[in-house]
Amino acid sequence: MTAGSQKVKRIMSGMRPTGRLHLGHYFGALLNWLEFQDKYESYFSIVDWHALTTKYQSSREIESHIWEIALDWLSCGIDPGQSTIYVQSAIPEIAELHLLLSMVTPQNWVEREPTLKDMVKMLAADETEAHEKVTYGLLGYPVLMTADILAFKAELVPVGKDQESHLEFARDVVRRFNHIYGVEYFAPPSPKFTSTPLLKGVDGQKMGKSYGNDIKLADTDADTIKKVKQMITDRTRIARSDPGHTDLCEVPWPMYQVFAQDIKDQVKAECESAQIGCVDCKVRLAGIINEFLRPIRQKRNELDSDRDRLRKIIEHGNAKARKVAQQTLTDVREIMGLSRWY
Ligand code: TRP
Repeated sequence: MTAGSQKVKRIMSGMRPTGRLHLGHYFGALLNWLEFQDKYESYFSIVDWHALTTKYQSSREIESHIWEIALDWLSCGIDPGQSTIYVQSAIPEIAELHLLLSMVTPQNWVEREPTLKDMVKMLAADETEAHEKVTYGLLGYPVLMTADILAFKAELVPVGKDQESHLEFARDVVRRFNHIYGVEYFAPPSPKFTSTPLLKGVDGQKMGKSYGNDIKLADTDADTIKKVKQMITDRTRIARSDPGHTDLCEVPWPMYQVFAQDIKDQVKAECESAQIGCVDCKVRLAGIINEFLRPIRQKRNELDSDRDRLRKIIEHGNAKARKVAQQTLTDVREIMGLSRWY
């Protein structure tokens, strides 16, 4: 992007402040954020209200996670000079838009959201518990996400594959809103996925904080080595002298595809001729991952020692984001005929 040139399309994305980010976040979403911030006008939201939909009982913990997530983003290269980084709850217009959109959203649309069913399973042990834990706010999760996107009239939304159904929901709401009020005000937002296949955690399941199988960007080298050593390999390889099978190797081999394409032929040859054992292979992989994360970790430590600067970045982003959302809400009230009393 050359100075002064205009970025036409807007993109918007967000992450819930529920803990430090891991490699799955990096390869599933952040990689696209980094690429797109050069091309598009970018809004990146720390969605604390979304965190509240499941963490309302420990709401006071969200504040510290907001700092952590901002540190993770910036240390990966999200550039506050180009992108707007802000906290969702600093933009009350998003809550107003959520309310207005909730009026036009049919009840069965929120009830049929597949991710809601997963969340219910995670939150509640049985049906009686679900009655209490699954709140009205959680049911509105996709409506709030739609408001996040539409408040900025974003057309592209770089997210992980798991968010696909939410984006479909957002497009349905856009069509319904435009249809009901006879306008073409909102454009249906499209998701943008990264090309990296879903990253597996050390146990072979999808990498996720709640599964405890993740490698955090901010982990130490030693933590990383320890976790990589726990990775499930080829379950059929019993003795060190047995030849390995990369096609049966559950975690390290797919990780090599992501981190070290350049040496994968060599790794395959060494594994399948039993020149190296799984431990050797994992120690090497851990070294590669630590090398990859070294500059990110270094930058994170620097930024962490200057909280004042971090606060200013977020405050600046909040003010900038709010202006855009205010304009959208002025338009929406006008479209719906609600501007009389403002
Ligand atoms: N639901 C998203 C997630 O869990 C977070 C999110 C909230 C979001 N609002 C958004 C992502 C708006 C993109 C756009 O990861």
